[in-house]
Amino acid sequence: MKLAILTGGGDSPGMNAFIRAIVRSALNIKPSSSVWGVVDGWRGLIDGNFRKLSKKDTAGIVHQGGTILGTLRVPELKDDKDMQDGIAMNLHDNFFDYLFIIGGNGSLAAANVIDSIIKKKGLRTKILFAPGSIDNDVCNNFGFSIGFYSAIDKSLEMLEWIRDTASSHRRVYIIESMGRDSGYLAFFAGIATGAEYIIRPGENVDFDKLVNMIAERERDTRIIVAEGYEKSGEEVRDILEDLFNKRNIKHEIRQVDMGYFQRGGKAAVKDILQASWLGYYMVKDAFNSCGSGFYSCFYVGSKPFVIPLEKAVNDENVNTIEIPQEIIDFALALR
Ligand code: F6P
Repeated sequence: MKLAILTGGGDSPGMNAFIRAIVRSALNIKPSSSVWGVVDGWRGLIDGNFRKLSKKDTAGIVHQGGTILGTLRVPELKDDKDMQDGIAMNLHDNFFDYLFIIGGNGSLAAANVIDSIIKKKGLRTKILFAPGSIDNDVCNNFGFSIGFYSAIDKSLEMLEWIRDTASSHRRVYIIESMGRDSGYLAFFAGIATGAEYIIRPGENVDFDKLVNMIAERERDTRIIVAEGYEKSGEEVRDILEDLFNKRNIKHEIRQVDMGYFQRGGKAAVKDILQASWLGYYMVKDAFNSCGSGFYSCFYVGSKPFVIPLEKAVNDENVNTIEIPQEIIDFALALR
């Protein structure tokens, strides 16, 4: 059996553990199979750029952040029908039986389109998809995407460093978090560090009330702003500064962006184990001639949830990226 692996979208810690699990499981369970890495993500699939992987190639990478295969963004893939057809043909012409993908919601959408072309044209390759994104915005009612907990770990460390300075100087810090349209990363990192306020996408912030809360504080105040919120960290800072001036509040405000620092570095144990378990399970399913599907799981040993790609990509029930009210109540209760 001939297998390919693609890492798509923004890199996320755990992608390398996924690659390793697929290569090792495939070559150990069925030594006659071959495993190929798609170089630079979707770009490699468009150009037909594949690299054969041995067990040795995946030595020592299990906890490394980023992806050893690379991942380039190809925004035009979303609408370019020729490009999508070309990918389906490239997979078929190279005799790939299965393509394993780990990526975010953009990659999931692309995987679904290519899978439907493959089915329509009666081509060879089946696609198995695992969620890999620090944003936790991939079909997220079925657990957490690989990389999400690693990014929370990094965020937590940064937020604690900022607490030191904020507290020493009696300052207010506006801290921007990645996460695109999803507020999960900002929200969970905020809960983990005990931030004073977390602004999530779509929130109607009562800035006067927020200023009342800040005014009562003795030392540090950390306000986390999710990337998907309509205002940037700088705009939030300007609003607060204005209100401080009007009300003669003397606290200093600083602003900082955690951004790309959240995305890189060592993977969290949870992400390593989840990626490894899913990779292993997907290989076993492929060797049993399974159909295409979206895979997720909670922990090692739990049977993965497998749903059709078109359900994972379209169904509103599985794609809600709004933070559930219960989690908001939970965060407020801990404040
Ligand atoms: O999807 C992961 C992510 O890090 C988002 O949180 C962020 O909006 C985006 O990627 C940044 O993308 P790029 O690396 O292309 O600038």
